[in-house]
Amino acid sequence: MTPQTSAELRQAFLDFFQEMGHTPVASAPLPMQNNPTLLFNNAGMNQFVDAFLGREERPYKRAASSQKCMRVQGKHNDLENVGPSPRHHTFFEMLGNFSFGDYFKAGAIRYAYDFLTKVCQIPVDRLWYTVHTSDDEAYNIWVDEIGVDPARVLRMGDKTNFWMMGDIGPCGPTSEIHYDWGAEHCTCGQPDCSVLLDNDCGRWLEVWNLVFMQFNQDENGVRTPLPKPGVDTGMGLERIASVVQGTPVNYNTDLFTAAMERVRNLLDHSDDERAEPEVGYRVIADHGRAATFMIADGVLPGNVGRGYVLRMVIRRAARFGRKIGFTQPFLADVAEVFVNQMSDIYPELDRNRDLIFQTLTLEEKRFARTLDSALSYLDEILSAQQQKIAEAGELIQRSLKNATDPVRQLVEQQKQQTALIVDNSEKQIEQIGRVISGQQAFDLYATRGLPLEITRDVAGERGFTVDEAGFKAARDAHAEASGAGAFGKYETGGNLYGDLLGELLRDGRLDSQGVDYDPYSGARATAEIVALIHDGRSVGVVSVGQKVEVVTTVTPFYVESGGEVSDSGWITVGDAAKIRVEDMRQPVAGLVVHIGEVVTGEVTVGQEAHLQVDDD
Ligand code: SER
Repeated sequence: MTPQTSAELRQAFLDFFQEMGHTPVASAPLPMQNNPTLLFNNAGMNQFVDAFLGREERPYKRAASSQKCMRVQGKHNDLENVGPSPRHHTFFEMLGNFSFGDYFKAGAIRYAYDFLTKVCQIPVDRLWYTVHTSDDEAYNIWVDEIGVDPARVLRMGDKTNFWMMGDIGPCGPTSEIHYDWGAEHCTCGQPDCSVLLDNDCGRWLEVWNLVFMQFNQDENGVRTPLPKPGVDTGMGLERIASVVQGTPVNYNTDLFTAAMERVRNLLDHSDDERAEPEVGYRVIADHGRAATFMIADGVLPGNVGRGYVLRMVIRRAARFGRKIGFTQPFLADVAEVFVNQMSDIYPELDRNRDLIFQTLTLEEKRFARTLDSALSYLDEILSAQQQKIAEAGELIQRSLKNATDPVRQLVEQQKQQTALIVDNSEKQIEQIGRVISGQQAFDLYATRGLPLEITRDVAGERGFTVDEAGFKAARDAHAEASGAGAFGKYETGGNLYGDLLGELLRDGRLDSQGVDYDPYSGARATAEIVALIHDGRSVGVVSVGQKVEVVTTVTPFYVESGGEVSDSGWITVGDAAKIRVEDMRQPVAGLVVHIGEVVTGEVTVGQEAHLQVDDD
């Protein structure tokens, strides 16, 4: 049976490659581990990097997966295309097959061709192929071994046919497979419209990227050959679903239609109303899905790193929601559709159902408090600039009119004066520019919670841009002045407390409200130690003399607020171990940490502890 639905396609892919000797491997969680430059997995190969580099032996040489990916940051960043583009997403699923020193180009090409033409029954006259200009071997495999029309095998350069995960890591030349939607879908209007133009024309869809992993690139950009070449392929499930379901718009596939229908029902939109704000619907569906998956994998909204990305997509979806008519939080309703639809494959969704809904609604409510004032402040900035530009423009018009007024005396003199005014006004317009300054954009975020990406959207809608370099400079200056506080590691930094809380909630070690904070009903409590932080890292055990931050299921310790200082006291474990608590903090909502030092013994995560606040 030819797979039709996205669920059937995903399964057909994994089954096909299992038949071809591949081990199905579960998706890695979205947060990327052990990579200082990437916050999220952005390709199926990420979890196999060490296997490609020959640093890790796996019990298999062939694997296949459906990997949860995010592309919002770093080398592969699709954020700005999401909404207007029918085929770019922040979150997506990547189907991939991998060879670690086993088959190479011939195997990769054969499997991909057979899956598309035999399993998915895609007609060959719809398919085009690219290879790297230097890659005669791949070209010959397509033409001689597979037997495709040589006119359909195009040679292209590094930009399209050399793939790297980031600036460092395994990389190599590629062969891509493109689907032709037909001339009626051409959007570029070029007479020689073809894949070769690489101009994002709506006629051509890259469905599958076959990477022939051959090199490892180091931090200086030097490439050394891998001990054994391998294969890394990636096919976006959203794209292959669009082909099989016959729609060039991914949002019309069964991956999104139910969520978009939910949005329409919530808004009670008619067909016309539904058609009009298409971009808003798409952003909500895309970002709502991305946020759902991020929370299920332990990310919580924050100001840095992954937490920032989550906050930004929730707020961006909320802003579009406001635009198309929502006045109340709505993302939990959208998330529910994805949780119900995809928990079979990703059970972490169902396990974290309540956490997902609560987190979305809380963040929407928090943003709603500042959204209106942020947008009206931004509106003031834009309008003031527009006003100045208009005034300078008017002055030019008036002066030109006067200069050519035939009844005026001293025409020559007037003309000279006019030239001066025009010149000055033009310079002034240039100076005002249609740009929001970096400082203004940063203030909008720091004081009104409006992420840069939303400022950019709103400014773009009015023909303005944002000085993003200036934004970064303002942010870094702020971080420095405040001791690298809230915005310190904005782009790549770990969100230690947010990530930790997410993990504890996801694993059920804390219930969905977080730490049970109860400083009012007594000075003592018994609780489980669920996390220990030492030297900025979460650790399993701490021993005498070490400074530590302790997270427990319950705490009677008061956290400083409103002028009252934090409690101090003791955490005792068994007979032998004691931690002196000197201070308390709540780094993120739901997480309360006791700050102190181990004075005797050793303390391990999972132990039961007695907490005692100092009497005075
Ligand atoms: N790593 C390649 C990509 O992401 C193929 O999987 O396109």
